[in-house]
Amino acid sequence: MAKKEIKTENKDSLMENIISLCKRRGFIFQGSEIYGGLAGTWDWGHFGLALKNNIKQSWWKKFVDSRRDMYGIDAAILMRQEVWVATGHVENFADPFNGKKFNTMLKTQVGAGEEATTSYLRPETAQGIFVNFKNTVDAFHPKLPFGIAQIGKAFRNEIAPRDFIFRQREFEQMEIEYFVRPEDWEKYFEYFKDEMLEWMVEVGIDMAKVHDIEVPDADRAHYSSRTVDFEFEYPFGQKELFGLAYRSDFDLKTHKLDYIDEAPTPGGAGVPTESVGKKIIPHVIEPSFGVDRAVLAVLLSAYAEDLPAQAGEIEGEKRIYLKLKPNIAPVICAVSPLLKNKPDLVKKAEEIFGVLKAEFGHVIWDDNGNIGKRYRRQDEIGTPFCITIDFDTLEDGTVTVRDRDTAKQERIKTSDLITFIKSKIS
Ligand code: GAP
Repeated sequence: MAKKEIKTENKDSLMENIISLCKRRGFIFQGSEIYGGLAGTWDWGHFGLALKNNIKQSWWKKFVDSRRDMYGIDAAILMRQEVWVATGHVENFADPFNGKKFNTMLKTQVGAGEEATTSYLRPETAQGIFVNFKNTVDAFHPKLPFGIAQIGKAFRNEIAPRDFIFRQREFEQMEIEYFVRPEDWEKYFEYFKDEMLEWMVEVGIDMAKVHDIEVPDADRAHYSSRTVDFEFEYPFGQKELFGLAYRSDFDLKTHKLDYIDEAPTPGGAGVPTESVGKKIIPHVIEPSFGVDRAVLAVLLSAYAEDLPAQAGEIEGEKRIYLKLKPNIAPVICAVSPLLKNKPDLVKKAEEIFGVLKAEFGHVIWDDNGNIGKRYRRQDEIGTPFCITIDFDTLEDGTVTVRDRDTAKQERIKTSDLITFIKSKIS
């Protein structure tokens, strides 16, 4: 179809457009907004939350549920001060501020009066994994190599939070600590580099804007012996998206933890015989993902503007749409009666809506405004399909399915709708 791309005027306006769309369409709001906002905090509205949940679910499915060597954990956000003293975070997790070092861990008090102790909100989910290493080994008896995965909040008292959800004080991470025999670390480092790239493709991040950068010795976190950062070309510059670190035996040694190497699982990787039954300290490969940066990169990759010239569209008027992959879009389809004052159409539409809602969950009812306005609204939410029930539906059982990206409409039999949508999200 005739489609004219519109170039976004400048880089600042792209961020402004995305921030404004996120507010307008109920994705993301400034934290504490009605009291003037709290810098570095953002609240997630219905559609933003659905998008974020889909991204987290896709991660969990790939890195945990589809594997045999991964164990999940959901550890407490509050952790004892000793954890962070042992790992060097109390000493080293700091940014320069007016010539001094400013520790960016968020400190709090736990308990009352003399019982009160200093505690920290975790600045990385990783330590919740390490402190549960022994529990996981004792409970599940995993054989090397194996990993522990966690999705959860992390907090950093960033000196200058900025760039929307890029640098926040409260954010979310998806992390894996993957335990390997020391001699195998390079192999698994390369392996997870590929896995990370594969997942970025799965959620629709524009790979032409992703660059992997070897982090020089001087710039690495104190616990890392090698780090590769995946950087993304944001409108405000090429900056970190995700990281992959080789943490060696730094954390397990720090927490005085070890592992007794075991005989291999039948069919699994071989164990060097001299290692069986011996205490070793596994080394760690850490793929680390920021959930919020994933959402931002997905939004930036999906944001598009054009001038569709298609029947049922508002001719000649610029439209904004999010070409999100159907597997992560907050809404898979919207269902509308062509006219909301025709009881026969509304009844049929309600029936189809009920069936699709029960099947897919992420389905919405939209009868607000004329059909052109509904398309514009659903385009901005990133809804891949708009289903309209019209007078022909009552005659021949077909509905109009309008495709978000091409703005093309086709008639599909009501009985084929579920199969049609399933084929798009698999
Ligand atoms: N456990 C390793 C670790 O925490 P990191 O590079 O400091 O490493 C991992 O953080 C990821 O967390 C980053 O790649 C980024 O995606 C996300 N992240 C870090 N600081 C953030 C912040 N202030 N706001 C949003 N996301 C952040």
